[in-house]
Amino acid sequence: MKAIEIREKYLKFFERHGHKIIPSAPLIPENDPSVLFTTAGMHPLVPYLLGEKHPEGKRLTDYQKCLRTVDLDEVGDNRHLTFFEMLGNWSLGDYFKEEAVKMSFEFLTKELNIPIEKLSVTCFAGDKDAPRDIETAKCWEEAGLPKEKIYFFGKDNNWWIAGTEGPCGPDTEMFYDTGKPACSEHCDPSCDCGKYVEIWNNVFMEYYKHEDGTYTKLKQQNVDTGLGLERMTMLLQGKETPYDTELFKPIMDELKKLAKSDNINSRRIVAEHLRASMMIIADGGRPSNIDRGYILRRIIRRMTRHLNKLEIDLSKLEILIDLNIENLKNMYPELEEKKETIKQIILEEKDKFTKTLINGEREFNKIATQIMKNNQNTIPGKDIFNLYETYGFPPEVSKELAQEQNLKVDEEEFEKLFKEHQEKSRLGSEQKFKGGLAEQNETTIAYHTATHLLHKALKIVLGDHVAQKGSNITAERLRFDFSHPQKMTKDELKKVEDIVNEQIQRDLLVTCEEMSLEEAKKSGAIGLFENKYGEKVKVYTIGDFSKEICGGPHVSHTAELGKFIIKKEEASSAGVRRIKAILVK
Ligand code: ALA
Repeated sequence: MKAIEIREKYLKFFERHGHKIIPSAPLIPENDPSVLFTTAGMHPLVPYLLGEKHPEGKRLTDYQKCLRTVDLDEVGDNRHLTFFEMLGNWSLGDYFKEEAVKMSFEFLTKELNIPIEKLSVTCFAGDKDAPRDIETAKCWEEAGLPKEKIYFFGKDNNWWIAGTEGPCGPDTEMFYDTGKPACSEHCDPSCDCGKYVEIWNNVFMEYYKHEDGTYTKLKQQNVDTGLGLERMTMLLQGKETPYDTELFKPIMDELKKLAKSDNINSRRIVAEHLRASMMIIADGGRPSNIDRGYILRRIIRRMTRHLNKLEIDLSKLEILIDLNIENLKNMYPELEEKKETIKQIILEEKDKFTKTLINGEREFNKIATQIMKNNQNTIPGKDIFNLYETYGFPPEVSKELAQEQNLKVDEEEFEKLFKEHQEKSRLGSEQKFKGGLAEQNETTIAYHTATHLLHKALKIVLGDHVAQKGSNITAERLRFDFSHPQKMTKDELKKVEDIVNEQIQRDLLVTCEEMSLEEAKKSGAIGLFENKYGEKVKVYTIGDFSKEICGGPHVSHTAELGKFIIKKEEASSAGVRRIKAILVK
């Protein structure tokens, strides 16, 4: 059975049992900044689980696009995915354990024709917060499952909550026996050896877990279920991994054909990350340096790295996107609708990353050569961090390169610096949000960043007496006034223009940190309009080139600016010159 058929069967089955089919919510949650992506079918339904009336009634079913990033680094093995589809049915204060179990059993054994011998289930063993779930176990027995196939486990296995606070409850999980030999005499569904695979989860949501760790009963008893489509498809087709099903097979085959060096893990990473990034973009996600945008960026970058590892020419990426859209459009029509955007964003990001890799690797080699010259064998974490901060060069690539040259990396020092940096940029991005990003558009943001580059370039070419006297930005141009006693020569103008364009080409990373004015000055940031600032200021750093106190916002990579051209240099007032400049893409 194909994935799309399983989906259809599921929705129709629950429709016959009085459920309304509702559409999948987007991967990017609407009106909920607390999570990055939709991670479960229940997520968009939280208000209704808490008691609000759903317009479609008390019985709902859907397929939900989900993305989980906790296991991102595991992708490449035979089972972890970031993007997946979850089939689900809900009772919002309607049926409870008995009917839920009955329907699950019927669907598995009658609709999917899974032999009873292949099934086993687990139930909640009970503790101080909630009783042993004998009721559910009895329902399974009554439905037709032999007693010895029913196991009891504690909260670690049989309690479900999204995160640390919210609606939750004991669950009953269904397992499929792959037929592999038991790994030991203690092998049971809680074991990870691969004999038992979890296929479906029914959560009996009647509790709310509070921030302080206590539980109270919800207004109503709900059922929340989740069945992983990729996994079910793989099992029903007797395949070893989701990559062997029709969802991934065409892209896996094409990758094999194109690759000059074979590596199954890299092929899986490319196939998985390509699908995930296409789905995120189709639902409105865009690469950036924070939050969801950063996850998307990481996924696309990791995919690009593994294409390189497979020695697949990056110009082939477009064909791979086309092929994937063709293969998946019947399941996700939005991929076809957003085809051009998906292509444009993935290809652009790939290009940016390629530049980053080239620049970063060059700088890395300089560092490595120096270390070896000094007869040392460990690269300081500070250097790896600087490569990351200045060029956006991924630390994992630095580590890989170090390994190739038999060098070690001081990971502890790197982690420390990285954590500090993350904390600062988190504060920065919160501020940035408050700062009214909405009033800015892409063009004016780009001019803001170009102004910083121009300011620094003028200081380099003309001298440290250059100070900002005014700045004005429209969608068409930037205007920058600065102190300088005489007209600039053609040669000076050309030099300034060249320096700015060089920084754009280096594709420097733009980062933001929050600190006190004092700290900012100490860090060497140029300060403008100092009297306007309160306690804390934001400092924008452009790679190793410029550091400036500013309200932002700015682009995240200088390559986003395009080409910088000075249009005019003239007098503004006594001792103050004015430059007008534009950016062209
Ligand atoms: N919300 C439950 C899960 O994600 C069904 O497993």
